[in-house]
Amino acid sequence: MAVDYTTHDGVAVITLNNPPVNGLGLSTRAGIVDGLERAQNDPAVKAIVLTGAGKAFSGGADITEFNTPKATQEPTLGTVIRAVENSPKPVVAAIHSVAMGGGLELALGAHYRIAAPGAQIALPEVKLGILPGAGGTQRLPRAIGLEAALNMIVSGAPVPSEQLADSGLFDEVVEGDLAEAALAFARKVGAKTGAHPKVRDRKIEHPNAAGFIQFARNTVAGIAKQFPAPHKCIDAVEAGVKNGFDKGLALERECFLALVQTPESRALRHAFFGERAASKIADVPADTPVRELKQVGVIGAGTMGGGIAMNFLNAGIPVTLLETKQEALDRGVATIRKNYEATVKKGKLKPEALEQRMALLKPTLSYDDLKDADLIVEAVFEELGVKEQVFRRLDEVAKPGAILASNTSTLDVDKIAAFTRRPQDVVGMHFFSPANVMKLLEVVRGKETAKDVLATVMKLAKKIKKTAVVSGVCDGFIGNRMIEQYVRQALFMLEEGALPAQVDRAIEKFGFAMGPFRMSDLAGNDIGWAIRKRRYIEHPEMHYSKIADRLCEMGRFGQKTGGGWYDYKAGDRTAYPSKVVDEMIDAFSKEANTERRKISDEEIVERLVFALVNEGAKILEEGIASKASDIDMVYLTGYGFPLHRGGPMLYADTVGLYNVERAIRRYAARPNGDAWKLAPSIAKLAAEGRGFNG
Ligand code: 3HC
Ligand code: NAI
Repeated sequence: MAVDYTTHDGVAVITLNNPPVNGLGLSTRAGIVDGLERAQNDPAVKAIVLTGAGKAFSGGADITEFNTPKATQEPTLGTVIRAVENSPKPVVAAIHSVAMGGGLELALGAHYRIAAPGAQIALPEVKLGILPGAGGTQRLPRAIGLEAALNMIVSGAPVPSEQLADSGLFDEVVEGDLAEAALAFARKVGAKTGAHPKVRDRKIEHPNAAGFIQFARNTVAGIAKQFPAPHKCIDAVEAGVKNGFDKGLALERECFLALVQTPESRALRHAFFGERAASKIADVPADTPVRELKQVGVIGAGTMGGGIAMNFLNAGIPVTLLETKQEALDRGVATIRKNYEATVKKGKLKPEALEQRMALLKPTLSYDDLKDADLIVEAVFEELGVKEQVFRRLDEVAKPGAILASNTSTLDVDKIAAFTRRPQDVVGMHFFSPANVMKLLEVVRGKETAKDVLATVMKLAKKIKKTAVVSGVCDGFIGNRMIEQYVRQALFMLEEGALPAQVDRAIEKFGFAMGPFRMSDLAGNDIGWAIRKRRYIEHPEMHYSKIADRLCEMGRFGQKTGGGWYDYKAGDRTAYPSKVVDEMIDAFSKEANTERRKISDEEIVERLVFALVNEGAKILEEGIASKASDIDMVYLTGYGFPLHRGGPMLYADTVGLYNVERAIRRYAARPNGDAWKLAPSIAKLAAEGRGFNG
């Protein structure tokens, strides 16, 4: 049963009971209507309480029903809310923990609302690419005023119930037993005669509604370029202000039905479920016991070690930071402090919080100080010999059961594990730079990594607010292995006729935060050079354009040397197209006897994105990633892939794998086509008329 019905001395209590968050799926909606009817038919019942069991009042409409027949099957949420609002007996919504989306809309249909403090109140639909579709854009402005409501609707951000105590949304915010308070409140209003208040009958008062709505429009235009939903939220609110409740409601419905079909909404819902799916590992049950993590060690206080340490300090976990030399240690600690100071300057951290965090940091040169650590993350130089030294030493000093993690980005985690006598305790924790900022964490599962180690690291990731995705062991793991194919294509296109600025512009227009050449100049072109040099030895059969090597031979490593694919001025990160580089590219094509041709923006986007898709498909075939949405989460959170496209694999589904296959076959038949080896799964899924996501 998705809804429970009980009576308590003249009060009927309708309890949503649809774990985990009382989503308003079809059976829950039907249960509420049945409960209301039972209450109307029972003369002993004078008032009705609507409440939620478990960890939420309600998390809103059941998102899994979207675009299925159940979503529009009666009773729809609109019907349910009308039944609540039109109930002759007063309905009191009793809200705890979470009232979001359709959950809040349901509560707004009630005649009275009481809440426990600390409940998260939100209309987060916009984060799913839609707008509140059951009256939220009409009732919330009438409950809490135009400005506060529009802010909540357009941002989707939750507001704690106590902050809304005097807003007109709640009749009471009660400490203590909510159920008891709700019954008492219901008895009080049940004894009243006459009609009970409806939010829809309230007026929206604002001295300059049109001016504020225009202001909201201007703000949204700047921040929501790729997404239609925030604009539609404003349209619907405006319609209600100008033309009244019913017309506003009709426009809201129309916009909802249109938005739910858009690729942007599909992408955002994919990301919502993708993030949650990534935290689940098929053969590691949810109830796997986790190891306790009270104390963390970080080895290496360089670019990554410092950022990694900050993640733990931010979460209140003490960190021991180890270096080989005092000087490097001091530098690392000073950088951490400097980063916090910058945050304080921006007003995002209190000075006392800075000191609290720094007090949790213990710098050391001695491995003895790591003997109590429950987790030790290594971030030393990227050389197997150095890793060997560190892990052999850790094996001697770390306590039994301590988790030993490596932040390596290219080395074999199984080899690193084999340096210890406890490979089951070794795992890869691949953070991205800057590690205190970037959301992505690739958790690299070695051959022998224990299940409870994985479960512990996934739980920790949530605590330090990372999106953790599990990757098997392979060169580059999920993200870097794919990006290599993307960069390879970018370089071939320079040889064939494009220039860096054109490639960057085309892919940035597609939505990437930064094109491959601006990105490479930022990261340092020498990093890719070092990887290619290794590839030339390890994989002589693999064909690379040597054009980037030529750039490095010119000493143009990127921003740090004042020039790379672009020119840079001192103190200015703007990328200016470079005449020297353009000449070098031209000369390179001539030497290779390549006739330069005009390459269209469409070709640039296809070759870059399909290179990701093709490698992503191979990664799935090999079981390095366990699901397509994991790959998408890696790209959305770590590589600046446009959110409104949902990641490379969902984008491929949107284009259709039939079309992806044809394009790859076409590029494979052209110059530099040997870089394209079609992943068999693309052909197979295309033939079956399926996509990566079903
Ligand atoms: N529909 C379906 N499933 C939902 C859901 C929803 N509205 N909200 C959460 N879930 C599921 C999650 O997918 C997850 O499932 P899993 O255990 O199988 O992975 C489970 O509930 C628990 O979710 P979380 O891990 O996110 O749990 P938290 O306790 O961290 O957070 C929450 C709870 C704050 C409710 C959070 O889940 C959330 O923000 N949910 C989305 C809320 C939302 O967007 N509501 C609007 C829906 S659209 C709508 O209402 C349209 C209406 O206007 C017509
Ligand atoms: P870095 O050179 O900035 O820092 C390495 C630090 O380790 C230096 O401070 C050095 O003094 C210290 N160190 C070296 N040997 C040590 C030892 N035996 N014991 C203790 N400390 C020692 O390097 P960076 O960039 O921080 O990289 C560290 C690791 O993180 C590498 O494995 C790298 O592949 C990986 N990584 C780097 C990323 C990046 O963008 N820089 C991204 C993801 C992973």
